[in-house]
Amino acid sequence: MQKPNNRLAGQTCIVTGANSGIGASVARSIGRDGANVVVNYITHAEAAEEIAHQISEDNLCGEAIAIRYDVSKEDQVISMFRQTINHFGTVDICIPNAGLQKDASLHEMTMQDWQLVLDVNLTGQFLCARESIREFLKRGMRPEISKSLGKIIHMSSVHQIIPWAGHANYAASKGAIVMLMESICQEYASQKVRCNSIAPGAIQTPINRPAWETPEALHKLNKLIPYKRIGIPEDIGSAAVWLASDESEYINGTTIFVDGGMTCYPGFTENG
Ligand code: BGC
Repeated sequence: MQKPNNRLAGQTCIVTGANSGIGASVARSIGRDGANVVVNYITHAEAAEEIAHQISEDNLCGEAIAIRYDVSKEDQVISMFRQTINHFGTVDICIPNAGLQKDASLHEMTMQDWQLVLDVNLTGQFLCARESIREFLKRGMRPEISKSLGKIIHMSSVHQIIPWAGHANYAASKGAIVMLMESICQEYASQKVRCNSIAPGAIQTPINRPAWETPEALHKLNKLIPYKRIGIPEDIGSAAVWLASDESEYINGTTIFVDGGMTCYPGFTENG
């Protein structure tokens, strides 16, 4: 575990879907660098409370709270921001990370499978970005805290560019994140908002358990990863902290792929 260096001291960050997997690691990393953290969750309240507790204990400058809101519902996202602002004063960083898969062949995909994935993975990210920007604009610059007015880091996926048979709803939601993120950058960069995405590859979390839980599955997965190891949540956490900090101030409207090279078409290594 890296030592804290307080790059985010004095800032408040909302991480959605932070009760497990990538979100939990991102929340921990952000907290270790000194920010107040809102650990948003929808299920597994105890896990979210435990993560918030650990972050508060480790965090030399800030505090973490766990709060339950459904990011796919407009009124709940508005309430999540209101509670955060009442508690911590403002929001400086938002990491809309909550996401899910409802996999099915397209001809068998139900309307519910389609809608739920789009509601959480895309509408949820829109609502969080909108509420963040409203708060950033209302609050104004605080140069002593950050060089930017505010930072949004969308959690995308390698499937924003890699088509994914049997997962069209998920791939469509991630493909849309690119245009959401880049349009936000184009619209608000002049006001010093930074909006970027992280696109994780195969990261060892509950969402893709079947892809890594047996040695055979892991062997098959590694064929898709030039770097020949599955990612760990901390790979994403460390990228998120840097992207949230002033160290990356000039990065805006960009997707950072954290995927061990998965997007470099490893299938072509000895073919084509
Ligand atoms: C998906 C995982 C998958 C990974 C690489 C992620 O966005 O959620 O299930 O293992 O992409 O394919």
